[in-house]
Amino acid sequence: MDIGKTLGILILSLGCFSAVGQKYETTRNTSFMETVDADARIFVWHHFLSDDECDYIRQKAEKRLERSGVVDTGNGGSQISDIRTSDGMFFARAEDEVIEAIEKRLSDWTLTPVHAGEGLQVLRYRKDQKYDAHWDYFFDKVNSVNGGNRYATVLMYLAAADDGGETVFPKVPAPNGINADFSDCAKYSLAVKPKKGDAILFHSMNATGELEERSMHGACPVLKGEKWSMTKWIHGSHYYMGGDKYDLQNQEYTRLLNVFKAGGNHANGTFSALCNVQSYSSRKCRSGRILSGTQHDVDSESSERVLQASKITLVA
Ligand SMILES: *[C@@H]1O[C@H](CO)[C@@H](O)[C@H](O)[C@H]1NC(C)=O
Ligand SMILES: *[C@@H]1O[C@H](CO)[C@@H](O)[C@H](O)[C@H]1NC(C)=O
Ligand SMILES: *[C@@H]1O[C@H](CO)[C@@H](O)[C@H](O)[C@H]1NC(C)=O
Repeated sequence: MDIGKTLGILILSLGCFSAVGQKYETTRNTSFMETVDADARIFVWHHFLSDDECDYIRQKAEKRLERSGVVDTGNGGSQISDIRTSDGMFFARAEDEVIEAIEKRLSDWTLTPVHAGEGLQVLRYRKDQKYDAHWDYFFDKVNSVNGGNRYATVLMYLAAADDGGETVFPKVPAPNGINADFSDCAKYSLAVKPKKGDAILFHSMNATGELEERSMHGACPVLKGEKWSMTKWIHGSHYYMGGDKYDLQNQEYTRLLNVFKAGGNHANGTFSALCNVQSYSSRKCRSGRILSGTQHDVDSESSERVLQASKITLVA
C-alpha cells in the first residue's frame, strides 16, 4: 500500500458520548484518507475509529459471538462453511449511541443513507481463521430482494493480528509487484494490513451499476494473535430490518414522497418535510433535488452514474 497516495487530511475529531453509563471518548488520532485504487474505488481511512470505540465495540460484541456463516444462495439464510471460519455477531442499527455515531460517520463517508446499511457485523479471527476470497455482491434473486444488491462495503479493524490477517484483493496485483513484509497470502495482490481503527471502503458495484470484479476480497489467515474486524454492508436502497427507526423514517419518507409526486410543492412544506425526515439528505436538500427509487446522495459524479444505471429518477 502506498502511503504517498494520500487523498486528504481529515482533522482530529473531538467528541464524547456517554454509553451504558460510562463517559466515552470519540477523540480520534489525526486521520487521513488514502486512495488505494482510484479506478476500482478502494480507499482506506486511517484512524476512522478511535481506540475507545474499538475497545468498546469489542467488549460489547464478545459475549454474543457465534461461529460465522455464509449466506445461503437458496433461501438467504446463514450456513456454516469451511471457507469462513471466524466467529461473529450482528448489532442492531443504532443499537446504542456509540454504534449510531459510527453509522452516521459511515453514511457521511460513503454518501449512502444509514438505512441502506445492514446492522454492523463484528468478527473475531483467531490463529488460522480466515475468510476465502469472495464478492459481497449477490448473484441470486433471493438475497437482493431486501434493499437491492450490495453496493459498497466498509471493513473496519477493531484489533490487528500480530501477524497475518491482511485483507487481500486477489483481482488487483500488488502495486509494486510484491508486498514485501506481508504474509504469503497477501504478497502478490493488493492488500491492506490490519491496523486498529483503520477502515477500508470498497465498491461491489462499479459506476455503471454492474459487478465490480476487483472488489473480490478475502481475509488472510491470522498467523499470530487475534484480529477483530467490523463490517458494514451497504445496499443500493433501503434495507429493511424489522421496523427499526430507520425503517420507520423510510416509511415516512416514502409517504411524503408520494404526496410530493402527487402534486405537493415547496410552498406547502412537503419539500422541507422530506428533507427533515431524511437526516442524511442535507446535501441533497441544499441542491434542491429529491431522489425517488433508491435514495443515495448524488454528490459525486460516480454515484450519479450508478443512479442512472439503476434507472433511478430524480424528481423536483
Ligand atoms: C492514538 O494512537 C496511539 C498510538 O497508536 C494510541 O496509543 C492511542 O490510544 C491513540 N489514541 C486514540 C484517541 O485513538
Ligand atoms: C462496469 O462493469 C461492466 C462489466 O464489467 C463494464 O462493461 C462497464 O464498462 C463498467 N463500467 C465502468 C464505469 O467501469
Ligand atoms: C401539499 O399539496 C398537495 C397538493 O395540493 C397535497 O396533496 C398535499 O397533501 C400537501 N402536503 C402537505 C404536507 O400539506
